[in-house]
Amino acid sequence: MADRRMPPAIEVAHLTVSYGVQTVLFDVTVTIERGMLVGVIGPNGGGKSTFIKSILGFVKRDIGSVSILGKPADKAKGLVAYVPQRGAVDWDFPITVGQVAMMGRYGRIPWWRDPGKEDRRIVDEALEMVRMAEYRDRQIGQLSGGQQQRVFMARALAQGSEVLLLDEPFAGVDAATEHAILDVLRTAKEAGKTLVVVHHDLATAAEYFDRLALIKKRLYAYGPPRAVLREDLMAQVYEGRLQVFSRMGESSNMEPPVREESP
Ligand SMILES: Nc1ncnc2c1ncn2[C@@H]1O[C@H](COP(=O)(O)OP(=O)(O)O)[C@@H](O)[C@H]1O
Ligand SMILES: [Mg+2]
Repeated sequence: MADRRMPPAIEVAHLTVSYGVQTVLFDVTVTIERGMLVGVIGPNGGGKSTFIKSILGFVKRDIGSVSILGKPADKAKGLVAYVPQRGAVDWDFPITVGQVAMMGRYGRIPWWRDPGKEDRRIVDEALEMVRMAEYRDRQIGQLSGGQQQRVFMARALAQGSEVLLLDEPFAGVDAATEHAILDVLRTAKEAGKTLVVVHHDLATAAEYFDRLALIKKRLYAYGPPRAVLREDLMAQVYEGRLQVFSRMGESSNMEPPVREESP
């Protein structure tokens, strides 16, 4: 159970982010409790990746604040680890699995020192956890998509951060890898980590996550899956694209889609 005296994992208040003249997140306020496995859902282009990046401080906020474990985001660098979307990585870069995982340690190692025994132990443990230890000396570019994803999770785990942010870790992996990744997420949660995971498959969202954040520019809902995967909310956010959702359950009283109001 989360300790009530401890600050929440992530607190976002009135977060607004724009790229040029386009506002992609507007007035997002949410508190993510510690030890939660949180799924971020919403349509393509809805601002899910931007939400993760603004927690990391990778994108500039127009207004609003983000704090991680009670610290303002810009002072919380070591507290949060990030697994980028696979498409955002240059897979031809000549680097081995072991080296990628060791990158997770660099923030902790003073510049004058090489990785030590303890760093290697932590990296080994992280590679074991994602079941990639035997691939340690392979070039990252030679691996399958799912294996690459697991190596990047190992890098994030090796960082030893309390909070992990993952952008679509299940995209383009086969079913076996999906289960392996889910296993790693759950193990990390059991170890007390907080995980925020961008996820696009509504059919598995309720099963995988303790909490869901539904984002399309605004935060439409945050809470337990059953409170978020409501037909009225889904209709508002996904408009005509509800096929996946209606397969999930009895869609009796589907309300007509509500168009998004203009900004
Ligand atoms: N670096 C960027 N520069 C300009 N526009 C961007 C940039 N990144 C994302 N966008 C735009 O911001 C919106 C939200 O994108 P994103 O956060 O990637 O959404 P999602 O992850 O939900 O698909 C989209 O319209 C996208 O085209
Ligand atoms: Mg995205």
